[in-house]
Amino acid sequence: MCGIVGAVAERNITPILVEGLKRLEYRGYDSAGVALVEADGRLQRCRRNGKVAELEQALGQAPLNGRLGIAHTRWATHGAPCERNAHPHFSGGELAVVHNGIIENHEALRTRLQALGYVFTSDTDTEVIVHLLHHKLDSLGDLTAALKATIPELHGAYGLAVISARQPDRILAARSGSPLVIGLGMGENFLASDQLALRQVTDRFVYLEEGDIAEIRRDALQIWDVNGAEVQREAVQYHEGAEAADKGEYRHFMLKEIHEQPAVVQRALEGRLRDDQVLVEAFGPQAAALFAKVRNVQIVACGTSYHAGMVARYWLEELAGIPCQVEVASEFRYRKVVVQPDTLFVSISQSGETADTLAALRNAKLMQRGYLGSLAICNVATSSLVRESDLTLLTQAGPEIGVASTKAFTTQLVGLMLLTLSIGQVQGNLGRASEAELVAELRRLPMRLAESLAMDREIEKLSERFTEKHHTLFLGRGAQYPVAMEGALKLKEISYIHAEAYPAGELKHGPLALVDGDMPVVTVAPNNELLEKLKSNLQEVRARGGELIVFADREAGFENGEGTQVVNMPHIHDALAPILYTIPLQLLSYHVAVLRGTDVDQPRNLAKSVTVE
Ligand code: G6P
Repeated sequence: MCGIVGAVAERNITPILVEGLKRLEYRGYDSAGVALVEADGRLQRCRRNGKVAELEQALGQAPLNGRLGIAHTRWATHGAPCERNAHPHFSGGELAVVHNGIIENHEALRTRLQALGYVFTSDTDTEVIVHLLHHKLDSLGDLTAALKATIPELHGAYGLAVISARQPDRILAARSGSPLVIGLGMGENFLASDQLALRQVTDRFVYLEEGDIAEIRRDALQIWDVNGAEVQREAVQYHEGAEAADKGEYRHFMLKEIHEQPAVVQRALEGRLRDDQVLVEAFGPQAAALFAKVRNVQIVACGTSYHAGMVARYWLEELAGIPCQVEVASEFRYRKVVVQPDTLFVSISQSGETADTLAALRNAKLMQRGYLGSLAICNVATSSLVRESDLTLLTQAGPEIGVASTKAFTTQLVGLMLLTLSIGQVQGNLGRASEAELVAELRRLPMRLAESLAMDREIEKLSERFTEKHHTLFLGRGAQYPVAMEGALKLKEISYIHAEAYPAGELKHGPLALVDGDMPVVTVAPNNELLEKLKSNLQEVRARGGELIVFADREAGFENGEGTQVVNMPHIHDALAPILYTIPLQLLSYHVAVLRGTDVDQPRNLAKSVTVE
């Protein structure tokens, strides 16, 4: 979603704020702004519609200098993306706020504040925070006290930061539903919505918990918890992973992240296999005892992570004999769910901060006669989802910057395969031989992924066929159906071509009506027991003049022909095929997007981490 950066120091902090915003820009890029208290004690700001580069250029022409400041990059919720709605928002020319999240009672607060004489200059929900705070500050005289009095009146989700020209020695921050981290420096301190923004200035971080309020000064930090009690939060030292957050030799983060997949999949397996078995302890010391009791699995996730869950359903039922349900978190969280006895609740999330997934976990934990326990499959060790789940498996993908998820997905699939094998092993539902065979295949997987990446040029050529198209169908059967869904999602996200996925057997129940020479049909076809049925489905497309692109196992017997282009894939064990067949679909959407000239890493209207409902 949006990004927040703040700093209080003894040097000019504008470059720190701008660099922080650039590092967070993948989260929101509608507009950006900074506010600083300058040497004359006055609060100044600069805001621009569009990307951080626009803001940087404006600051180049009219520099701001100060030792206390906050900054924001926005993903619009209330109010169109424009300079007037960009953060920071001001009140009385002496208070500034930046905010991630949504204030749900903003209409009622706005009416009240207008009656008190406050004039609103934006359409945002955020502006009510700063005027309410100003009102409290007038009566209480102290910014910290004013924020403490304001917070109980805000309903909804927020991560927010405030500065005031009246007390220019501090940043005030509050967190409820949207993450914030404090970066500790030497005689200077920082704040951000993600530590990634601050790695240029520190490697020591304090993570705020839900309900925390923090007062951050140059040489002091005070935190109060949700009950108002002062608390000490542990400082965590961050060790930089292998991949720094830059594009290296690649044109886009997405391409870099696609090509990292053999290495990150290797890392996702490290320390988790012993000889020909999966190490169940990889899920935590209590995992074996918990997995022994599991009779059902409920998976909840959003977007690409949801597709990973859909694949896992096939694996858990077929390989481990465990019934599994998968649901998008935004539906699950509001449904009256009947929990089957002994169900493990599994959430999947790259960021671990997706609002709907977090809410689903929190609801699941509150349910009476509820779940056996919760497991998070997540890429961010410090995220809320990880901290609030009983068990965790980190996907070890490293920072993923491209908004369209790639390496996070394939490493989630690896994690879910490890889960399937672990449950199967503990419950004795999976024979030793099958486990050994799959473990051997997992060890070979990075090599197979590298082979499929070598097809990049071929897929780039293929992508030319899509540039003028408006619609595409993706087909798969069995565990390849979710792979087709993920392929369609990737194409829509970054190339803006409408794409839909169908289980191939459903084609004749509707979508076939759309098929003609203008509708490419992309199919994933490993060499499994459904292959013959899939071939018949594809005949139905050819008979209607549809153009077929088939990603098929070399041994599957597909041949190029008129209207049929076959891309031969390395042979792989059927169970792992969903991981392998994802790669060419990622490459395809990447190249189509490049040819269409879209903003690949920051597609319009989307955000990397959706921390609002
Ligand atoms: C957003 C991103 C997607 C991602 C989804 C779930 O929509 O653009 O790439 O799959 O959120 O995010 P999560 O961090 O929970 O996996």
